[in-house]
Amino acid sequence: MTEIIDRNFAGEGIYRENILDHYTHPRNFGKLDKFNAEHREFNPLCGDETTVQIKVENNVIEDIKFHGKGCAISMAASSMLLTELKGQKIETIKNITKEHVFELLSIPISPVRVKCALLCLEAVRRIHKKYEGEIVEEVNKKICL
Ligand code: FES
Repeated sequence: MTEIIDRNFAGEGIYRENILDHYTHPRNFGKLDKFNAEHREFNPLCGDETTVQIKVENNVIEDIKFHGKGCAISMAASSMLLTELKGQKIETIKNITKEHVFELLSIPISPVRVKCALLCLEAVRRIHKKYEGEIVEEVNKKICL
């Protein structure tokens, strides 16, 4: 969904400004030349999608990027979450909860926006499973390096 920024749903004050900043200037947005795993996650409610790619070295997330399209909440959550994960151990992904993503956004998330907020987290969780080989048919550890 191409979105005209709705300043009402993005909350108030500095938190709203932070979300709008991440939406208009998303961090870690783009594609990696080399990556270990990627996953495309789709929001069937709106048709938006995001693809996350990850490059891991010695169990550390050396680089991580996303591309696709989404609303302000979706884009901001992706930008914030990937910024936090970059440089962390890959196991860190297992400890990221949806509540943590809501905390990063720091605004109330209505039920209709939950999928928006968690689109990237779902992609990251799937990537972790792919990297760990739990989704065997999609493991891509060497092919793209
Ligand atoms: Fe599509 Fe939010 S409206 S991800």
